[in-house]
Amino acid sequence: MDYSRFLSSESDLMRDPEIRELLKLTERGDIVSFAGGLPDPQAFPSEELAEVVSFVLREFGASALQYGPTRGATPYVKELTEFLYRVRGLKTSIEEVVVTVGSQQALDVLARILVNPGDYVVVEEPTYLAALNVLKLRRPRFVGVPVDEEGLLVDVLEDKLRGIRDGGGRVKFLYTIPVAQNPAGVTLSSRRKKRLVELAEEYDFLIIEDDVYGLLVFEESVDATPVRVLAPERTVYVGSFSKILSPGMRLGHVVAPQPLADVLERAKQSTDLHTPTLTQYVAMEALRRGVVERNLPRVKTLYKLKRDIMLDALQENMPGRVWWTKPAGGMFIWLKLNARVDTSHLLPKAVERGVAYVPGKAFYHDARETDTMRLNYTKPTAEQIRKGVETLAKVVKEVLK
Ligand SMILES: Cc1ncc(COP(=O)(O)O)c(C=O)c1O
Repeated sequence: MDYSRFLSSESDLMRDPEIRELLKLTERGDIVSFAGGLPDPQAFPSEELAEVVSFVLREFGASALQYGPTRGATPYVKELTEFLYRVRGLKTSIEEVVVTVGSQQALDVLARILVNPGDYVVVEEPTYLAALNVLKLRRPRFVGVPVDEEGLLVDVLEDKLRGIRDGGGRVKFLYTIPVAQNPAGVTLSSRRKKRLVELAEEYDFLIIEDDVYGLLVFEESVDATPVRVLAPERTVYVGSFSKILSPGMRLGHVVAPQPLADVLERAKQSTDLHTPTLTQYVAMEALRRGVVERNLPRVKTLYKLKRDIMLDALQENMPGRVWWTKPAGGMFIWLKLNARVDTSHLLPKAVERGVAYVPGKAFYHDARETDTMRLNYTKPTAEQIRKGVETLAKVVKEVLK
């Protein structure tokens, strides 16, 4: 039976066949997949978590197995705010925090409480695919601003803001991933960060700061200070334990000015009542024992090594005209062929040869044709990275001939 007549028009906007097919491929053993965005399982502190889980059930079972507040279990939120101050310099009170099911839920709920159809919403070009997907459901008017090695091009942003204001419009918010951006791997420079905050004041818009890679920075020289530290009243900070502890725990959080946190809480309540209590207690105990902070240097060393293996392999194998980013952190390298080739058309050939990537197209609000691609270096093994890049380079050389 064809069920399309039963579906809402919103369901139609949720179609994303290209990426779904890709994700299926990552499960096939014979393909080197640079397409996913998964941590290396070696990064999980499994032994320590095993102890934490059984301790939590014994000591806090009555609360940890019970329903909890929508904003988050209070003892966990207290622990979280102290952690965010220690590691990200964020001064926050528990009234400003809402715990979410991954940062993905935070993005979804934020889109629902902030965007009316037709609102101007600024996104980076390229930007995180799943953020685009939740935003699209709200039918905004996207304003794209490119990024380069220093992150968002604030001068272009200013031109666009002025243009919109001159036309009688107003931008509601800008969604940005300032540190180790997904997919481009770039980090916003201090100078541009300051300018961004000035522009937010001048043009009266909010900044949604997606900081899921903020703690995965390998290069000491990088200034990874959150935007929220500079502009707490203008910034809605989104964080997650997915990249630094475990994505399977599905634990994210929002730090927002309290009036916004109150609305977020109401919106989340109608979605799922609250984030699983057990997970929050496990994270609380893990934070108390210092599991995350002890584990982080190990994870960063591992990812830096894999990044370097991929950078070296690209240098060795790719033809001269191809360009790529050298990320100071995070999980991705962004590669540009500098040719009139749409990488989404090249993908089937690459997969046939045994390597997968995400075509750049997926990361643009207007799904434009592009000669770019995103490569993940955290999940594949060192050997797979070398082999996969070699294969990919062969495919690229053929198409550039
Ligand atoms: C930029 C960015 N934001 C948010 C997420 C969502 O992560 P989670 O829902 O696991 O916290 C991801 C995951 O890859 C991401 O790359």
